[in-house]
Amino acid sequence: MTHTELAIVVLAAGKGTRMKSKLHKVLHPLGGRPMLHHLMDTADLLNPSRNVIVVGAGKEQVENSVGDKAEVVVQEPQLGTGHAVQVTKDALAGFKGRVLILYGDVPMVSQNTMEDMVSNDADVVVLGFKPNDAKAYGRLKVSSDGNLDAIIEFKDANEDERAIDLCNSGIMALNGESMFDLLDALSNDNAAGEYYLTDVVEIANSKGLKCAVTMTSEQEVTGINSRSELASAEKMYQQTRRQYFMDEGVTLIDPETIYFSYDTIIGRDVVVGPNVLFGPGVEIADDVTINAFCHLEGASVGEGASIGPFSRLRPAAKLGAGVKVGNFVEIKKADIEEGAKVSHLSYIGDARVGKNTNIGAGTITCNYDGYFKYHTDIGEGAFIGSNSALVAPVNIGDGAIVGAGSVITTVVESDELAIERSKQRSVAGWANKFRKKQQEKKNK
Ligand code: UD1
Ligand code: CA
Repeated sequence: MTHTELAIVVLAAGKGTRMKSKLHKVLHPLGGRPMLHHLMDTADLLNPSRNVIVVGAGKEQVENSVGDKAEVVVQEPQLGTGHAVQVTKDALAGFKGRVLILYGDVPMVSQNTMEDMVSNDADVVVLGFKPNDAKAYGRLKVSSDGNLDAIIEFKDANEDERAIDLCNSGIMALNGESMFDLLDALSNDNAAGEYYLTDVVEIANSKGLKCAVTMTSEQEVTGINSRSELASAEKMYQQTRRQYFMDEGVTLIDPETIYFSYDTIIGRDVVVGPNVLFGPGVEIADDVTINAFCHLEGASVGEGASIGPFSRLRPAAKLGAGVKVGNFVEIKKADIEEGAKVSHLSYIGDARVGKNTNIGAGTITCNYDGYFKYHTDIGEGAFIGSNSALVAPVNIGDGAIVGAGSVITTVVESDELAIERSKQRSVAGWANKFRKKQQEKKNK
């Protein structure tokens, strides 16, 4: 990689008005993680020695989100992209390496692209692309020898310039030694009345410095300004995640309907049915089957386990190897040990279910009294009959059997039968007599 030091500057002082949100635009998530973090994590792969983020409003939000990973600088008022970089002067005092300027709302730039830019030794390196529709992007004027002569903003461009199909992504790598001299020479004498960062190109050329273009795809430099652009970006992001998992040996029955988080981990030979959502913090071991319509977050699933259809695994659900969790089962903060089964219509929360235990249909761990949460401990090889309510805190020993329909409120020792329901009464012939009586009444 590069021999010189690297500083990352992320511009994020734009108003973000079109988002119509209390949340700072760059903190809106893609795959469950703020777009700013996607961008910074990619930039981190280049080992920058400084990270600066330029914000307008919402400094605290951004600071809280990035912690000590970056210095957050305020640009107020916002007088244009050139001015935004100018305000990093103090933060970058004494810095002589390369400065890579990124946009907080353009989060999908790849590591390769960033490396291409910072390893180019021109004083100004601009990231160009050829979009399908050049819209109002700035246009790159490149001379026949490949030097970048100027960037013309759309508002300021004439008809010939607007016909250029090579566009400015806005992303730039600058030489830290000459950068602030170039910025000091900017003026706001243009159609927008702003200090354009793009004008550093002409200024650098006039000083005999070198300006170059590196290229990328339209997809990488897609910006996010509205909820609908956020949705499109999410779509692209999910597409890359699906491809990644299939490349890694995961079968996705209907990829378009399966959603991943940035941190989803899935082993080999896992089969994922349609309409499955992986929220943050999910880890799936090898040979797991996830049937249709499961919703998982903060959960881990052991080797060879099977879940769904229609299972919900909530945070701290931990399923051991070979566990089976079936339809309409919700598991929260519970260890379901190896080989245990919770096959139908149950809620298991704040609990342990021991090895090879069978939880009957409709079993509920009553873990909450409206104020506090309580633990249910079920041993190994136990059998909980259908429609049982286990009122926590309660312990059920190894090998115990709970009769169907019981409300269990006190300890069940190992190998005991616990049954809590009134004794069944049977009256021979009663039903026939009843029907006859009622029919006669109706006929009157
Ligand atoms: C800019 C480029 C244009 C390029 C386009 C790509 C300039 C003058 N123009 O256009 O050539 O094709 O990006 O999308 O640079 N920002 C600040 N402070 C400001 C203004 C902007 O931090 O005072 C930040 C914004 O938050 C955003 C980025 O800079 O992340 C770009 O600003 P935006 O207004 O979207 O770009 P344009 O000026 O339209
Ligand atoms: Ca009962």
